[in-house]
Amino acid sequence: MYPYILISLVLTLIFALGCHGAIRKRPGVFYALAVAVVVAEVVYYVCGVYEVAPEWLTDYVVNLFKRGALSTAMFVVVMYTGALDAKRPMVRRLMGIRGPLSIIACLLTLGHNIIYGRKHFVTLFTNPGQMKPQTLAAALISVVMIAIMIPLMVTSFQAVRGKMKAKDWKRLQRLAYAFFALIYVHVMVLFVPKLPKKWVDVLVYTVIFGVYLILRVTKAAKAKGQKPACCASMERYEKKTV
Ligand code: HEM
Repeated sequence: MYPYILISLVLTLIFALGCHGAIRKRPGVFYALAVAVVVAEVVYYVCGVYEVAPEWLTDYVVNLFKRGALSTAMFVVVMYTGALDAKRPMVRRLMGIRGPLSIIACLLTLGHNIIYGRKHFVTLFTNPGQMKPQTLAAALISVVMIAIMIPLMVTSFQAVRGKMKAKDWKRLQRLAYAFFALIYVHVMVLFVPKLPKKWVDVLVYTVIFGVYLILRVTKAAKAKGQKPACCASMERYEKKTV
């Protein structure tokens, strides 16, 4: 099967750039659509629709959502906009919808959590000894991921953010780095044991997260070097790059 993350990245960029204006104007519509997609994919699996649906629909459409690849691609776009030069036109454009895009990604991730959680969380809490070590580790990691993702999502809503002190909001949003790192660990724990079949995915995820790490560390180092000269504006700049 093709690497879902690559096609997801292409689709995410088309979606984010193509719907940029609409997302800015009416983010609520996109949140509602994301919830509708989650409900549809859960029904698709829970009610056995996938058994009668054409195979291509499951393989090329539903799997992008179900496997968490599309939502992860949205997180990747959010990550990279914080690590790239904000003066570039495309980065600036994406920066304007960073908050809504991360909320849409969190909502879509819930579909992946519900579909895989139905099986793996039930076993995790009732009979963990029955699980393969890698599935057990991935499920435990995903508990932490969900515990981080929910507060990140809730505080990304403008209404909630507006009620928080800027300092507290910024501190909480720093958890996003731990979340990004855990996504990589989650995928590696699941895919490295299947390396002969999943080596392309392992390679693609490693390049995506590795390049991000380099870009983010470089940007932070540059910002630190510039800080004494322009403390006030840097505070604003750092806040934007969380
Ligand atoms: C917080 C959220 C989570 C995120 C961001 C996330 C992300 C991902 C990603 C990116 C993949 C690889 C998709 C691909 O490229 O094919 C994946 C695979 C997987 N995830 Fe998650 N995940 C999360 C939570 C969970 C939870 C809660 C479970 C179950 C308890 C789970 C179970 C799995 C399994 C079993 C796979 C392997 C799928 C396969 O090989 O077909 N994930 N996840």
